[in-house]
Amino acid sequence: MADTITIIDDRTGKKVTVPITGGTFPSSALRELDPSLFMYDPAYLSTASCASAITYLDGDAGILRYRGYPIEQLAEHSTYLEVAYLLLNGELPTADQLSTWAHSVTHHTMIHENMRKRFVDGFHYDAHPMGMFVSATAALGTFYDDAKDIFDKQSFDKQVLRLIAKVPTIAAMCYRFSQGLPFVLPNNSMPYAQNFLNMMFRIGDDHAIDPVLARAMDVLFILHADHEQNCGTTTMRVVSSANSDPYTSTAAAASALYGPLHGGANEAVVRMLAEIGHIDNVPSFIEGVKNGSGRLMGFGHRVYKNFDPRARIIKQTAYDVFEVTGKNPLLDVALKLEEVALKDEYFVKRKLYPNVDFYSGLIYQALGFPVDMFTVLFAIPRTVGWLAHMQELLGDKEQKISRPRQLYIGSDERNYTPINKR
Ligand code: CMC
Repeated sequence: MADTITIIDDRTGKKVTVPITGGTFPSSALRELDPSLFMYDPAYLSTASCASAITYLDGDAGILRYRGYPIEQLAEHSTYLEVAYLLLNGELPTADQLSTWAHSVTHHTMIHENMRKRFVDGFHYDAHPMGMFVSATAALGTFYDDAKDIFDKQSFDKQVLRLIAKVPTIAAMCYRFSQGLPFVLPNNSMPYAQNFLNMMFRIGDDHAIDPVLARAMDVLFILHADHEQNCGTTTMRVVSSANSDPYTSTAAAASALYGPLHGGANEAVVRMLAEIGHIDNVPSFIEGVKNGSGRLMGFGHRVYKNFDPRARIIKQTAYDVFEVTGKNPLLDVALKLEEVALKDEYFVKRKLYPNVDFYSGLIYQALGFPVDMFTVLFAIPRTVGWLAHMQELLGDKEQKISRPRQLYIGSDERNYTPINKR
């Protein structure tokens, strides 16, 4: 059987045959038939907008791999900084490379004093941390006059390093501001996740971070580091395709992540569980969802139609964390919801399973994070995924500035009516 597809334009009888490569065929085939013909594909359900070597995802089989390595193996054996190196460089680092990389990241964690004193202090006292994170990430770029030199590899790598190193500092700074707590300086002797937890929660001198909790944070960072062409990453690519700098591109991607259908879902899950309140209320809540009164947050995925491999790892991590912190009282509600939904015809038929956000919020809450910090916790590790995609895009000769077409459905030409005649 030939790996080709033949498209016939029934209006003209013209036909074109093009190769199928990796399950895709070039859309230029349509323009060969008729240069004014375009695919109509709302929300890109059937469109591959780029070629990428970073993350492999098979939604039906529940497979997620970074640069070929299964997520399960990385979550078990690796660290977030090692994974960050892998995503950016394509290969796991040697011991020397990893120690140089980790040293560089941990020595770029400070941010300019003006960021905290002038910029962050200007927010309203109850500003949402994700709104602050987005703005602060964009603002960070204004401190570096080399931020725009994106085609100078050395300069680009420097911005990547700065962003990965500084996003936890920004996140913790936003949190401390919202709590009215003094800012905790980064501690360069601590590993990445531990340093973040220290900047978040340190009160006084003797605040020790439990290694189980630091490891759980690192695992969550690994699981969230990349997920190919989701809404945020696509935003990153679209904005970077205009050659915007890495800071504003990252801020744009983070803005997409902020939405409740994307990274905001973990926050929505915990709010939903709290609203349900008790396992006895689960059946009526499920009935409400089926009758259209809202979605079961943390369920369903555009790509995973079998199970989300990240959700399985997170569920296990939740139990590790609860051993230390005590069980999150909302866990029982979550388990009951999962049990009822997985047996219900509505969810089975639509292939709706728990996604990465279903249990992550419970862990974040047990670790002591307020609900409105949850999406920020997603944005910190996803920064490396966004930057890996930006780097790949800038080196991809097939890419140009993003510019989809539209199907115009508005009025035909009509004459301007003066205001007194309308
Ligand atoms: N609860 C109830 N029904 C749902 C849900 C849900 N969570 N998700 C999808 N459906 C229904 C939907 O109403 C539709 O039903 P029908 O065919 O009768 O109209 C059908 O399932 C297909 O849904 P869809 O909206 O076409 O699916 P999608 O691929 O466009 O949406 C999604 C994917 C993740 C946006 C959606 O499943 C959803 O809104 N889930 C809840 C929010 C959530 O948990 N988001 C986190 C996603 S994972 C983290 C990330 O990558 O950002």
